[in-house]
Amino acid sequence: MKKILITGGAGFIGSHVVREFVNKYPDHAIINLDALTYAGNLENLRDIEGKANYTFVKADITDAAQILAIFREYQPDGVIHLAAESHVDRSITDPNAFVMTNVIGTVNLLNAAKEIWADNYEGKRFHHVSTDEVYGALGDTGLFTETTPYDPHSPYSASKASSDHFVRAYQDTYGLPIVITNCSNNYGPHHFPEKLIPLCIHNILNNKPLPIYGDGKFTRDWLYVIDHAKAIDLVYHNGRDGEAYNVGGFNEWQNIDLVKELCKQMDEKLGRPAGTSARLIAFVKDRPGHDLRYAIDATKINRELGYEPSVTFEEGLGMTIDWYLDNQEWLNNVTSGDYQKYYEGQYRGLGG
Ligand code: NAD
Ligand code: TYD
Repeated sequence: MKKILITGGAGFIGSHVVREFVNKYPDHAIINLDALTYAGNLENLRDIEGKANYTFVKADITDAAQILAIFREYQPDGVIHLAAESHVDRSITDPNAFVMTNVIGTVNLLNAAKEIWADNYEGKRFHHVSTDEVYGALGDTGLFTETTPYDPHSPYSASKASSDHFVRAYQDTYGLPIVITNCSNNYGPHHFPEKLIPLCIHNILNNKPLPIYGDGKFTRDWLYVIDHAKAIDLVYHNGRDGEAYNVGGFNEWQNIDLVKELCKQMDEKLGRPAGTSARLIAFVKDRPGHDLRYAIDATKINRELGYEPSVTFEEGLGMTIDWYLDNQEWLNNVTSGDYQKYYEGQYRGLGG
């Protein structure tokens, strides 16, 4: 039986990856390793937690000894590494946590994999899940390809870029079989409401202002989270050793247009008069060092592995809103307690 250890499996993207693998590969043992930080939530996995091929291990990747002990116990053949601090705004207020988890944590995992695989890399793979933010910011034109030079600007993207470099260094130095995926912005069910889309859904439901940084003309390239999970499956199983694959769906939106589309769909679904939610839009102080535009050239993963997203943005957004409307208890649970403190600090003076 093949054993795959997935880190960060209780988070937003990780929970979709764990679900995809547990359901699709009943003859593989899937071990979900997660520290359950504010972003980790086992509620995200209720539907698969009873499956025979699923195990959860609570552990912190910054603890090298604990990680090595877990690798020795479970002897995974493959690692899919998603555990990270993932929010740019939090990285601006507390960069050190990003260095610890994203850089040191990644190196601890690489060391553990190298140690238990002991230079016998047959059938082994370390898949590092990264972001397009490592490439920096684009102007009005152009796309990020796999050969775009790294130029990270935020503490978050700098920590992810650093982790990518370590992963490549372990391939170059020790021959560790690695692949990297650099994906664009994800959206979908279980997205923590500190990020733009779920934050706006939550605020619309509560008639609170929708904070748009700067002039709202910043552009992101959005991919439905289940399409990211499918890309990870494809690259993990069929990608070439040592390669990076950009993942995206050629789907760019300026923030203000995206939020207007969200408001329109929310009004329809909530049976409110058109224009009700859009009246909540509030332009606020810009994020420091805010990257103007991200856009992925996903030609390589399409050409080599036949990858294509399965849903359009309008469909994916509709499914996402439906999920939040059907799971308001999930939203209420994650926005109680510490979330209130974070929100008040981040959006001081916004009111609502
Ligand atoms: P998330 O913040 O929702 O989840 C992160 C998970 O990692 C949580 O379950 C958390 O408990 C766990 N974790 C954090 N620190 C840990 C530690 N020290 N030890 C063990 N577990 C720890 O993040 P996400 O949005 O699901 O992102 C997952 C990965 O995908 C990250 O590596 C991120 O950089 C990358 N990524 C995210 C996006 C996006 O749009 N969200 C896009 C491209 C790439
Ligand atoms: P976010 O969801 O934080 O993802 P990232 O910073 O990783 O791209 O932000 C998406 C875009 O939305 C980004 O340009 C910042 C902007 N934004 C706002 O305008 N207001 C907000 O309250 C948030 C959280 C983000």
